[in-house]
Amino acid sequence: MFARSAARALSSQTRLFSSSAARHTKVAVLGAGGGIGQPLSLLLKTDPLVSSLALYDIRGAPGVAADVSHVDTPSEVNGYAADKLDEALEGVQVVVIPAGVPRKPGMTRDDLFNTNASIVRDLASAIGRVSPKAHILVISNPVNSTVPIVASTLAKAGVYDPKHLFGVTTLDVVRAARFTASLAGTHPDNANITVVGGHSGATIVPLLSQSIHGKAIKGETYEKLVHRIQFGGDEVVKAKDGAGSATLSMAYAGAKFTNALLRGLNGEKGVITPTFVESPLYKDHGIDFFSSNVELGVNGVEKIFPLGELSPEEHKLLEACLPELKKNIEKGRAFVEGS
Ligand code: NAI
Repeated sequence: MFARSAARALSSQTRLFSSSAARHTKVAVLGAGGGIGQPLSLLLKTDPLVSSLALYDIRGAPGVAADVSHVDTPSEVNGYAADKLDEALEGVQVVVIPAGVPRKPGMTRDDLFNTNASIVRDLASAIGRVSPKAHILVISNPVNSTVPIVASTLAKAGVYDPKHLFGVTTLDVVRAARFTASLAGTHPDNANITVVGGHSGATIVPLLSQSIHGKAIKGETYEKLVHRIQFGGDEVVKAKDGAGSATLSMAYAGAKFTNALLRGLNGEKGVITPTFVESPLYKDHGIDFFSSNVELGVNGVEKIFPLGELSPEEHKLLEACLPELKKNIEKGRAFVEGS
């Protein structure tokens, strides 16, 4: 009873979830035993559009599943131990991947590449083999490289569909709304900021000029706000002092993006949010993947929106973003080609 009313309260107060259609979906979380995986699994258990939840990790997933399965929402939950990846992926429509190591103080997301690249590649090849039509949501960092790794791995297996692959950049959007709302003294719902580019430091480009509240922020306050949106993750890494990076706010953001995709897959129109996808926008710069507003629909990626009008400051941010993003993408591609 409590959980149901808590879930309802969560839905209505924060608008984390909304559901307007009837079709339900099997969702797998790979890395479900981790700092993000556990709260993400809990939040997905309260999403009315999830009918079945498959929780997989190389350690701890059956325990998390047993715990989460007692929450009194209708979805069923199953946990899968290290040797049960294929079973976890059987029949899934959506796979969310928060598997891999997080940052410690002083590390950049790129420092995680050596460990996480092979984890993500191996999970992607299992998805390609068992559930090639699944929609794949990549949380594992560095997202700018792990998304191309998944794409190249699936392409090698002959099953890559660019409409089904998403890098989750929602935490940048959530932070931008929260930080801008605090400065403007308004509700975060009124400070919806489009964040484009990639998901690390200078590749994160918030388009504050396109929001009424964002546009009003000028000078040093603007510079500080942009820096805080780009490097907000460092605040959490520093405060956790070696114990990891953002987990709770990331779980919230991951659940929010998963719900948006599920609504799109269920036929809801007008579900639009930034996400890092294969994109035509900067292909002429040699950049195949880019985050901008994307309409999510029954096929996954329905429509990729251009950036719209940018301020001179945003043009500068974009100039700094593009070469770094290109390097990160090439690094991911090269990893799969060499392996
Ligand atoms: P964590 O270390 O708490 O959890 C990671 C989990 O992955 C562990 O339970 C581990 O057993 C599991 N794992 C490792 N190898 C695996 C494999 N081959 N198959 C399945 N599971 C495996 O780390 P945390 O804090 O949950 O972060 C996970 C990832 O998410 C990190 O790469 C982190 O950088 C990234 N992240 C991404 C964000 C984003 O905005 N996209 C924000 C915050 C973190």
